[in-house]
Amino acid sequence: MAKPIIVSGMQPTGKIHLGNYLGALNNWLSIQKSDKYESIFFIADYHSITENYSAEEKRQQVFDLACTYLAIGLNTEKSIIFVQSAVPECTELTWIFNTLTPIAELQRMTQFKDKSERQEKNINMGLFDYPVLQAADILLYDGSLVPVGEDQIQHVELTRDAARWFNNKYKANYFPEAKPLLTSCPRLMSLLEPAKKMSKSLGEKHCLNIDEEPEEIAKKLAKAVTTPEGVANLKLIYDTFKEQMTGDFDENKMGETKKIIAEGLAKHFADFRKRKKELLSQPEEVAKILEAGRARASVIAQKRIVEIKKIIGVI
Ligand code: TRP
Repeated sequence: MAKPIIVSGMQPTGKIHLGNYLGALNNWLSIQKSDKYESIFFIADYHSITENYSAEEKRQQVFDLACTYLAIGLNTEKSIIFVQSAVPECTELTWIFNTLTPIAELQRMTQFKDKSERQEKNINMGLFDYPVLQAADILLYDGSLVPVGEDQIQHVELTRDAARWFNNKYKANYFPEAKPLLTSCPRLMSLLEPAKKMSKSLGEKHCLNIDEEPEEIAKKLAKAVTTPEGVANLKLIYDTFKEQMTGDFDENKMGETKKIIAEGLAKHFADFRKRKKELLSQPEEVAKILEAGRARASVIAQKRIVEIKKIIGVI
């Protein structure tokens, strides 16, 4: 039997913190390792341009995320890795799904509501249509399982709905009903305000990033608050990366404990940091890898968009 197809992506919007790592990349790595799926991992650049950004910064962020994907261990022999915008069939399919998606369904998306509040001067059509593009990302490649964090469940539900709307309208049994693949992952909190989830939007000092140098990790941890909530969060980080910790977690010696955590984290990501630096210094190599991924994704996309256009009566 053919293996189920997994599709997932991340937006290139800056640094990857430990929460992003545990919620996405780390799960992708176990999926890849399990060999039970065909996996497709991409850089969701078209999603990210719905927020305020500059072109120069975006170019850098896409390259940086590509280096992160490769350095962390996503493997082009096992997975298809590419940049979303390089496969234009995805935006074609978005248009087709747009004609099937009731506006009311998009109006109730919590991410749309949150982002509209955050960027009230830039509530653009792309922000509104974001989940439809996501449905196209998944269904273009016949994806049936979508490894994402809890915040994306609503979008995967819309993907399932889009498949149904399409199949019903065109009396076709073409798209699968995609499901989220939720893996339990610890919910890390901000270092400085441990009542809130670790998030870039709170600011750099609230997060530990995976490509941070050991000294920076130590500095940030030294400033982490040690209220009971803060200690619980540090314990969670300690437990999550326990294999790398070389001392005990001692609540009465948080200064020491923080140093142990800092060393453990630095060690866990040491190979990653090294590989990422190498890749950052080889932009042509990285471009070649992405081009090869684009070519593989395009073969699937081009075949499927023709099938889809035939079904909807435009070919
Ligand atoms: N919206 C996702 C996020 O912010 C990123 C994403 C875009 C995605 N397209 C996708 C995830 C398709 C899974 C499948 O995390």
